Amino acid sequence: MNIDVILGLQWGDEGKGKIVDYLADRYDVVARFQGGPNAGHTLVFDGKKHVLHTIPSGVFRSNLINLVGNGVVIDPITFEKELNGLDKADVDYDHRLFIAEKAHLILPSHRLLDAANEAAKGKSKIGSTLRGIGPTYMDRTGRNGLRIGDINRVDFKERYQKLKQKHLSILTSLPKVDFDLDGEEQKWFASLERLRKIPQVSSEYYVNRLLKNGKRILAEGAQGSMLDVDFGTYPYVTSSNTVTAGVCIGLGVSPDKIGEVIGITKAYCTRVGGGPFPSELHDDVGELLRKEGHEFGATTGRPRRCGWIDLPQLKYTIMLNGVTQLVLTKIDVLNIFKELNVGVSYQIDGKETEEVPFEIPNDLKMNYKTYKGWEQSLVEVKTFDALPNNARLYVDALEKELGVPITMVSTGPDRVELLTRPSVY
Ligand code: GDP
Ligand code: IMO
Ligand code: MG
Repeated sequence: MNIDVILGLQWGDEGKGKIVDYLADRYDVVARFQGGPNAGHTLVFDGKKHVLHTIPSGVFRSNLINLVGNGVVIDPITFEKELNGLDKADVDYDHRLFIAEKAHLILPSHRLLDAANEAAKGKSKIGSTLRGIGPTYMDRTGRNGLRIGDINRVDFKERYQKLKQKHLSILTSLPKVDFDLDGEEQKWFASLERLRKIPQVSSEYYVNRLLKNGKRILAEGAQGSMLDVDFGTYPYVTSSNTVTAGVCIGLGVSPDKIGEVIGITKAYCTRVGGGPFPSELHDDVGELLRKEGHEFGATTGRPRRCGWIDLPQLKYTIMLNGVTQLVLTKIDVLNIFKELNVGVSYQIDGKETEEVPFEIPNDLKMNYKTYKGWEQSLVEVKTFDALPNNARLYVDALEKELGVPITMVSTGPDRVELLTRPSVY
């Protein structure tokens, strides 16, 4: 068997949680392969909303195994909060939730460093979620990190102190920020006890064994390809590889094991935090998109920046990921618009291009093609064929331009608000 992948093709928050939750019952395992509690994946079903940060979005489906892969960074405090949320929702995750022993731990001092680093950057700050993601991945590549498997070592506390001391010495050269390190440390060690009870596995052996036994695995991406540390809008990115290649690194599987790659894009575009955004709207239309789409971060509650869909950007991330199917989400947010713009090319230094440049200049001009809106609610639309004509034309035009089949169109936050093409799903 191969691993299918679901990932975001923009700057995150494309609706990955919803689609993973919808598709999960076709799989035996859902596995996160990168990122950490910077992610906020929203699931809505049976009239309730759930937001997951580190735990895979398959956890609400009974019998399904959920694996937090080695490429994920874990904060015991957030993790415990998520487990408490699952307990409250009566979700039994016993024998269904596993953590890779090679996954790295986010220490309280990583979060403190994240905040101090951002303070040092001043106006050019990344807009990090301040969850300690960057400093934790830095310690991973710097070969200083602590991993889940280290919790079991007798000298774990000494290793912890050593890493914390290193952080404290770096902090002397950074601006002071408000952070109760002692208090957070106490919480961290208390939460660690809960984390200890979650079974640890070697994700590389675990996943490969499952595949050999014919099990179906869905890899759940976090963030989006434009936040990839190598291919995103650097330095305004996260610190992990969010593209398909990250699945191999973050779970321990070879590239030939990758099956379907399901890329998710909103019917428009958003980003939260700093950095370039070619199709961003600073006017009433942007404000309307934010209002209609409830575009406020699932992790930090920050307002998301909004703009039109950007085809050169999507073509770039489709290429990077080897996308085989597309999912278009939040199409209902466009219901109220008379006209819809689609970004088709960039104008840079008087030249037209469809390539995402090394650095996106502030004065980049986006060229748009305009489509007619459908100006009606989609609440009653239950099948793909029942979409209003102008909505069909919009979806068909995107599909033609992007060259990949759009197999699902999402018309609302609920699990059931999804139009699928029967020939595929
Ligand atoms: P993720 O990080 O990719 O999982 O996405 P988020 O959960 O951060 O943000 C997506 C938001 O849009 C959530 O509030 C979802 O409940 C909501 N959502 C998902 N799909 C749709 C849709 O088709 N229409 C509308 N209106 N909301 C949606
Ligand atoms: P999901 O999985 C949207 C953004 C932050 C910031 C940059 C770096 O819900 O789609 P970090 O905390 O990683 O150092 O922040 O990346 N960011 C996200 N934006 N969705 C996310 O995750 C994000 N995770 C990080 O806003 O600009
Ligand atoms: Mg999100």
